[in-house]
Amino acid sequence: MMKTRMPVRFHVAAALLLAGLGVQAQTNNATLIVQADTPGPEISRMIYGQFAEHLGRCIYEGFWVGEDSPIPNTRGIRNDVVQALKKIKVPVLRWPGGCFADEYHWKDGIGPREKRPAMINTHWGGVVENNHFGTHEFFDLCEQLGTEPYVCGNVGSGTVQEMMEWVEYMTSNADSPMANLRRQNGREQPWKLKYFGVGNESWGCGGSMTPEFYADNFKRYNTFVKNYDRENPLYRIACGASDFDYRWTEVLSANVGRRMQGLSLHYYTVPGNWQHKGSATEFGESDWIATLRKALVMDELVTRHAALMDKSDPEKRIGMIVDEWGIWHDVEPGTNPGFLYQQNTLRDALVAGVTLNIFNQHADRVKMANIAQTVNVLQSMILTDKERMLVTPTYHVFEMFTVHHDARLLPTELACGDYGSGGDTIPSVNVSASRNKAGVVHVTLCNLNPNTAVNLACRVPGLKPGSVSGRVLTAPEMNTHNTFDAPDAVQPVSFDGARITGDGFAATLPAKSVVVLELK
Ligand code: AHR
Repeated sequence: MMKTRMPVRFHVAAALLLAGLGVQAQTNNATLIVQADTPGPEISRMIYGQFAEHLGRCIYEGFWVGEDSPIPNTRGIRNDVVQALKKIKVPVLRWPGGCFADEYHWKDGIGPREKRPAMINTHWGGVVENNHFGTHEFFDLCEQLGTEPYVCGNVGSGTVQEMMEWVEYMTSNADSPMANLRRQNGREQPWKLKYFGVGNESWGCGGSMTPEFYADNFKRYNTFVKNYDRENPLYRIACGASDFDYRWTEVLSANVGRRMQGLSLHYYTVPGNWQHKGSATEFGESDWIATLRKALVMDELVTRHAALMDKSDPEKRIGMIVDEWGIWHDVEPGTNPGFLYQQNTLRDALVAGVTLNIFNQHADRVKMANIAQTVNVLQSMILTDKERMLVTPTYHVFEMFTVHHDARLLPTELACGDYGSGGDTIPSVNVSASRNKAGVVHVTLCNLNPNTAVNLACRVPGLKPGSVSGRVLTAPEMNTHNTFDAPDAVQPVSFDGARITGDGFAATLPAKSVVVLELK
């Protein structure tokens, strides 16, 4: 169905000529065709999922403040954070990790809080974890958010029995030992749990396994992960590859096959390198373009891993689950290096927009994605400082893109010029489009060029739009960001740069912006 995923470059010969002369070609015109009459697969709202780990100030302080906190809370979970997240309609929340998942022992996190044993969070700052936020608190959080839980089990340092019992504890309604233990701890009915991960990053922090060894372990653990609720069988997610590790996907596809319903993929956009990732807020145009070039790599990764999955699963019954993605900067100066606390600028918003457009374009295979992480860690939606809270530019992108949740993907053909800087070159525009159940078409566009507006002419075969309206997220500088003193420095505003034409619409996309348009 898809005609062209990535932008078709034009003026190629001229660009090459100019590049040869050491001149960067910059054009500010683009054309787009949105095929409103040939809707493709449904864009699962699960693509807009979140990830919350016991890491730094994500769970503790970010979500959990405890019942006795002066910060307004409901059963220990802060109200301001829940209210803000409800606005972006979080469809699914992954927990408890991450690397933490493979050293987490769930029985330490149930029962009276004052009696719960502590542990050392060895991956993240070596801090002592008091286990006050455990299974009951997580499901309470999901219920307050109206979101689906996604629990990741411990393969690396946990036993098969432990995993089996956790699933019984959460999902069994029988008069059985674990279900009765849950009742004893105050929860009569089992929770509704669909998504269950069998280990995390088993090639690294989850156990340093080879794909063959992990595939065998998946089969062993998974055998004992039972469907206690037969009406609602678990959707089992196997640990997948890190970025370019295509062999991992091949081995898992061949050795595990249909025993898994989902196979994960992790990819982080690191502006510099893993030793010197770069500041979240202090950067120049060369960092801007390098970061966006790396974010665009997600398209290649999804395409190539999907092609490997297609070999054994041409019907696409196994979902690609990108359950960790996002931008990874150096931590904010003066903060604990193990806590991964970073600011979030307009650049992060563009990374989010580009990545979500890519996931939409691959809706036939990408069935869930979870940005890392929801609060106070990596590319967050929300930052907190004691009783204060702000939402980030990335949050706003998630809010703007809610229009795509469960809508049908529309094929797009984009022809745009390149944006170049310092010898680096990327397409200047990035797009996806969808049609919702009411027939309304939405188009999300990113102008990656920080200097130049793009004049876009769009045809929409299959729709004669009577109106176009929208919103835009941009800011004066590439590194503009929200602070606790100026929390609204970056926020979406109404967009008046689009108008209806004979066969579609025309729009002027401001430099460095994310735009959502609605066609009726
Ligand atoms: O999101 C932070 C960490 O990144 C996760 O714990 C781990 O799975 C990944 O390496």
